[in-house]
Amino acid sequence: DIELGLRPQKLANYIGQDKVKETLDIFIESAKMRNQPLDHVLLSGPPGLGKTTLANIISNEMGVNIRVTSGPAIERPGDLAAILTNLNENDVLFIDEIHRLNKSVEEIMYPALEDYALDIIIGKGPSARSIRLDLPKFTLIGATTRAGMLASPLRDRFGVMCNLDFYNAEDLKKIILRSAGIINIQINETGAEEIARRSRGTPRIANRLLKRVRDYAIVKGDGIIDTQTADKALKMLEIDGTGLDKLDRRILNTIIDYYKGGPVGLETLAASIGEEKGTIEDVYEPYLLQIGFINRTPRGRIVTELGYKHVNKAKDENSNQIS
Ligand code: ADE
Repeated sequence: DIELGLRPQKLANYIGQDKVKETLDIFIESAKMRNQPLDHVLLSGPPGLGKTTLANIISNEMGVNIRVTSGPAIERPGDLAAILTNLNENDVLFIDEIHRLNKSVEEIMYPALEDYALDIIIGKGPSARSIRLDLPKFTLIGATTRAGMLASPLRDRFGVMCNLDFYNAEDLKKIILRSAGIINIQINETGAEEIARRSRGTPRIANRLLKRVRDYAIVKGDGIIDTQTADKALKMLEIDGTGLDKLDRRILNTIIDYYKGGPVGLETLAASIGEEKGTIEDVYEPYLLQIGFINRTPRGRIVTELGYKHVNKAKDENSNQIS
């Protein structure tokens, strides 16, 4: 899988998120010097910013195995017990979408995280008793789109918390140039800048767009990505100058045309657009908020003046006035 090939394996090859890299590097080195597992790590931030990549890098740098699963995949306490009892000393367990763990699983997780032990109930009724099963020491790496969605007893058990931010265009450009080398396509500086500018601050999107622009360049062009090829390919994909796609623009237009610019509740908006509420909330909204095209108010989402401008509409007396 080329996607895997694009992912850096070492912290030194990971571009951007300098604060996160700097702190993780120290905690990893310390854990190695002490010959102990790294404390549990919570990685939060919008999708596509490199949470899974970082988890793999951490296990690599620690020199341990990583077991990858997700919150919804661990249905019962026994599923978690099976995973935990099969780990080797100091291994990493990566749980993506950790905010979606169910309550019963979450509860047996607490002693596992705190004491590396599982409390298992044997039998039923008056003769039921609890036995304590020792586990190998391990590091839990949890990933979530929003740390605020985690139950606080679980959140409190992470010793290291890293919040990933959207990437700036400069870092995205570096990622694109690096990826272009790996997938073996020629690209110039301004071509890389054009894709970077339109990647919504997200490496996963940058890498996807790079591959589509590559396709365009080798079929319709001379096999070299420059500004013009990038622009033509991205226009074909209906990605605008800011990197917004059709659904982004539909969100803006729906709030403006149907709700006078808002405020509108997320639920209502999702129903109007015919899209999953979670997709809007986790994938689309964070970037629209980041670039200042929408705002959150206690009564719902509103489109800002900038957002109106972007879809060539005027915020006039017909739109709701929000202070
Ligand atoms: N590929 C995806 N994310 C990356 C990053 N942060 N650094 C380098 N390559 C990447």
